Amino acid sequence: MDNVRFGIVGVGGMGSGHASTLPHIPEAELTAVCDISPEALAAATEAYGVPGFDNHIDLLDSGLVDAIIVATPHYFHPPIAVDAMERGIHVISEKPMAVTVAGAEAMIKTAERTGVVFSVMFQLRALPVNQAAKRLIEEGRLGKIYRTLLTDCHFRSQAYYNSAGWRATWKGEGGGVLLNQAPHGMDIFTWLAGMPSRVIANVSTRQHVIEVEDEASALLEYENGAIGYFLETVNEYPTGIRIELCGELGKLVLEGGQLHFWEVKPGVRAASDETTEMWGRPEAEEVEIELEERQTGHAAIIRNVVCAILHQEPLISPGPEAIRSLELANAILLSGHKNKPVTLPVDRAEYNAFIEAKKATSKDKDVEDQRITDPQHLT
Ligand SMILES: NC(=O)c1ccc[n+]([C@@H]2O[C@H](COP(=O)([O-])OP(=O)(O)OC[C@H]3O[C@@H](n4cnc5c(N)ncnc54)[C@H](O)[C@@H]3O)[C@@H](O)[C@H]2O)c1
Repeated sequence: MDNVRFGIVGVGGMGSGHASTLPHIPEAELTAVCDISPEALAAATEAYGVPGFDNHIDLLDSGLVDAIIVATPHYFHPPIAVDAMERGIHVISEKPMAVTVAGAEAMIKTAERTGVVFSVMFQLRALPVNQAAKRLIEEGRLGKIYRTLLTDCHFRSQAYYNSAGWRATWKGEGGGVLLNQAPHGMDIFTWLAGMPSRVIANVSTRQHVIEVEDEASALLEYENGAIGYFLETVNEYPTGIRIELCGELGKLVLEGGQLHFWEVKPGVRAASDETTEMWGRPEAEEVEIELEERQTGHAAIIRNVVCAILHQEPLISPGPEAIRSLELANAILLSGHKNKPVTLPVDRAEYNAFIEAKKATSKDKDVEDQRITDPQHLT
């Protein structure tokens, strides 16, 4: 195989964005599209000049694709991905990979059994600052981490929530900010900081007329005794992610696309134990971190998957790692709704029952679906 032939399932806002990105990726081509909406499908076949299918099975069985990008609303990611994997077709799933951890596990198990390449669209992983932060942690430069923080602030208008029937409903989306805007920040946070073992959360709907949460905060507890503070919201402007990781040997801050790292000598605890001076303190020196030049954005993840299929390149965002942000999202939602601490891994049966109960209360929204790509995702 010299070229990877891609099908896109779900050619709404994000799927159309990926269709515009594919022509810029060497060794990749768009060969088919699929959408259950006749209007969206007709617009896509005309825009991209490729065959269209009104259901994903016909696309998968067409012989036209080696890989698919799943860009439907979240609930459809697992069944469509699994159907593709069972046919030996490689998969890039949009985030979140699933609504429930049980759904995510089905995808991971099928990918392992069938041996297909499976990646999730966490494009922030490709950013040089995030890659450099990961290297610092892997090199042990922070030492034991004793405190973490994620504040991930977004803005979404009521018009955004009114733009499609599936958005911000339990049956259409299975959650709010935690399932839609938060996965990117939560992926970077859990990739760098690891997973907490227990969460105590508060979830609320503050500024929007929607069924699900537009804000979530939590206290995180880690196995090694570390604690973390967590906030995800769509109610703030200006927006942005801040991650702080405080370790015995160093402190790392990611904010506004910048990475700061301070080396602490001889270490926070060591300085406390060793100094005999009342106002003694450790030394902290900010270290300049070299950043590599690399491709970023959705194109980086798609290009990486192409290279994984053709040349066995390691994945930037492997499917099995994508379950971590979802595990944390499920735990925080459950804890917030029960008003009780929740231990991780989340009890799969309990979470499934929680979501099914929420779906049963979910109401249809009488809105006209719009499929407009977020301008920041236009190539
Ligand atoms: N990685 C990112 O930066 C990013 C950005 C935006 C959205 N997303 C993700 O992309 C997904 C889609 O979001 P969107 O904003 O494009 O939504 P959208 O509503 O604009 O588009 C979804 C499309 O999927 C189609 N669809 C629904 N069910 C289908 C099915 N079973 N088979 C085929 N097509 C189906 C709809 O008709 C629609 O055209 C979501 O999971 C979202 O979280 C990711």
